[in-house]
Amino acid sequence: MKDFKNVHLIKNPLIEHKLTIMRMKETSEKDFRENLEEISMLMTCEVAKNFDTREIEIETPIKKCTAKILDEKNFVIVPILRAGLGMSVGVLKMLPKASVGHIGLYRDEKTFKPVEYYSKMPPNLPQKILIVTDPMLATGGSCVAALEMLKEKGAKKIFLMNLLAAPIGIETVATAHPDVEIYTTAIDEGLNERAYIVPGLGDAGDRIFGTL
Ligand code: PRP
Ligand code: URA
Repeated sequence: MKDFKNVHLIKNPLIEHKLTIMRMKETSEKDFRENLEEISMLMTCEVAKNFDTREIEIETPIKKCTAKILDEKNFVIVPILRAGLGMSVGVLKMLPKASVGHIGLYRDEKTFKPVEYYSKMPPNLPQKILIVTDPMLATGGSCVAALEMLKEKGAKKIFLMNLLAAPIGIETVATAHPDVEIYTTAIDEGLNERAYIVPGLGDAGDRIFGTL
């Protein structure tokens, strides 16, 4: 796969361990959701290396000092429904004052093209830092469509968090949106004839919500 400046593959033994549990077909829905949430928290730490802090005056039990904070309200977490919800829970735990926008997309089973069915965003998107979540980057169609939709609404600074990606999905999104920083924890072999990631972990939405 070509190297893209805006693609970041997070390498971390703890994330690899949790992802292995998620891949296993015998993993329960509860364990699947919990590991996804925990990995999302760890991924947020990586993405957060890009964020600017500002200094405030505080007083510890020992003395006054300056200390750094993030303006949490500047952040908008955007899960792509449904499976993105499973990641947004972890991101929101790390940035509890962020607002949350939702984009509803599903992949048509025959064409694999994304179909939009819902969108609700908080105001002032051009001034916000967006963190878009979707665990699966397969053909890339869903993420490309979601990012286009957000840019049409004025979004300027966007980070994309995908648990798992196929090379074609990464290439498609990285090429279509070179200004979006893409974070993933694994790039798998490819796609099967149903456009599922191989070896992947199956249908993320179904495994999160028990709709298998
Ligand atoms: C899955 C997944 C992504 C999309 C990835 O959603 O959560 O949104 O497929 O595929 P792509 O990169 O080829 O577009 P799905 O359509 O299964 O909907 P769901 O999350 O509601 O189950
Ligand atoms: N959507 C999923 O949930 N899994 C895949 O492997 C591809 C798309």
